[in-house]
Amino acid sequence: MTIRNVTHAANVRLSDDGKKVIIIDQTALPNRVVHLELDELQPCYDAIRLLQVRGAPAIGIFAGYAMYVLAAHYPELSYDRFCEKFHADKEYLNSSRPTAVNLSWALNRMEKVVLDHKDLAVPEIVSLLKKEAITIHEEDIAMCTAISEHGLSLLKDGDGILTHCNAGPLATSRYGTAIGPVLLGRERGMNFHVFADETRPLLQGARLTSYELSSAGVDVTLICDNMASIVMKNGWVNAVFVGCDRIAANGDTANKIGTSGVAILAKHYGIPFYTLGPSSTIDMNTPTGDDIRIELRDPEEIKKMWYKEPMAPEDVKCYNPAFDVTDHSLIAGIITEKGIVRPPFDINLKKLFAE
Ligand code: MRU
Repeated sequence: MTIRNVTHAANVRLSDDGKKVIIIDQTALPNRVVHLELDELQPCYDAIRLLQVRGAPAIGIFAGYAMYVLAAHYPELSYDRFCEKFHADKEYLNSSRPTAVNLSWALNRMEKVVLDHKDLAVPEIVSLLKKEAITIHEEDIAMCTAISEHGLSLLKDGDGILTHCNAGPLATSRYGTAIGPVLLGRERGMNFHVFADETRPLLQGARLTSYELSSAGVDVTLICDNMASIVMKNGWVNAVFVGCDRIAANGDTANKIGTSGVAILAKHYGIPFYTLGPSSTIDMNTPTGDDIRIELRDPEEIKKMWYKEPMAPEDVKCYNPAFDVTDHSLIAGIITEKGIVRPPFDINLKKLFAE
């Protein structure tokens, strides 16, 4: 079973009656297309924590809808009690994953609606929350489309592109960020060749990126993470396009573990390395990559998950960081919906927000 037109799929949406947030369970792909309907706090927290919904922008969109759906459960509360409950739910969801800034960004935006409207009746605030969640989603569609256009301007027909993890439509709203230019170009009849890193240990590249690209008719070759060097050395890669989870004010960028290694390789082979993401992923309150909190995950993901039998001694020590930080000096450009930001990033990111 496949998702029809994955480039435009509604991977996160509100149910028709507005009572549930519906997601495509990304942990079941590519083998099964499973939709989850969520309306309680704990399953919403688990959906983020377990990567049923994942990818920085998709987590933000999901958080917006989840806060609306949860708030619609208690419209009869007094304003003060409503604020308290809303804040507690928000803080709990925010604790599910620490690295992608889009989660706290969307949650803060939803809470601002509550705090800015103390003069309204609670049910009216709930209606405004629905509107805000839909706006976050619509803005992401517009941002991803614009990012894809800007990214496409850097490519020519026939180019080879290497990507790491998954920053496609499943991780966002439409098109995606890192593979958005490829999918947009494909819709316009252009042909690219994409090398998709499998992305150990959770295999987002194998399970999701190669699925999205092949469903959209893009020429994609899946490689293990440790094969990036040879395909670059062979001259098959013209550019590296990756997504991002948090960009610090100096341009240092957190993305899926392994991304910094790809950037170091790209530098060695003289291949431009681009980070693509919406401005909601740029965190001007985080000065450098050293200030980004890196999520540590369960060692079982390395030792057992995906295998019929354990692939490591039961008690072996594991280190399982979910992200790493690519130094800004390795990045040729940060492609946002507002345009392509070039170094020096500390100056040019400030300018981007001043405009
Ligand atoms: O742990 P994940 O799968 O949520 O990590 C996702 C990534 O690192 C993506 O590259 C990033 O969120 C950008 S998605 C457009």
